Amino acid sequence: MNGAKFRVLLLAISCNVVTWLTLAAANAFAQSGTASAERGAKLYLEKMCYTCHGYAGQGGERGSGPTLTPGLWPYPAFAQQVRHPRQDMPRYGSRFVSEDELADIYAYLASIKPGPAAKDIVPLHD
Ligand code: HEC
Repeated sequence: MNGAKFRVLLLAISCNVVTWLTLAAANAFAQSGTASAERGAKLYLEKMCYTCHGYAGQGGERGSGPTLTPGLWPYPAFAQQVRHPRQDMPRYGSRFVSEDELADIYAYLASIKPGPAAKDIVPLHD
């Protein structure tokens, strides 16, 4: 490996470490108990998440955004998707949604209880 290639490799590795450390810090914050589901509910609307993912994270119409809950992703994966979406979702940098705000949004989504199973909804029985 020549010097230039080595420097590129080193840069790639250090970027990954920075991303990992950022996510680890964000995860620690999300679990520290200071995040607020109440603030998160407002932010979820303000930051337009609901337009693609539905008001309760149930998923948008015509495939605009997948279901977020039930089955909420672990925080590091959640944060990674919001900061660096893997496909069509718009990117939310930390200038637009801060680490604290992201933790609040996560707390809101985590607070949503799953609805009853179809077999437990009596009017659907016939
Ligand atoms: C313009 C539509 C749109 C908006 C606004 C949007 N998303 Fe998404 N989101 C998507 C799409 C489409 C995907 C599927 C993956 C992709 O395209 O990157 C996705 C995927 C996700 C996922 C991964 C779930 C999965 O099963 O793929 C999470 C978590 C998520 N979004 C959270 C959020 C949050 C939090 C917000 C608000 C801060 C938000 N999204 C705003 C369209 C949107």
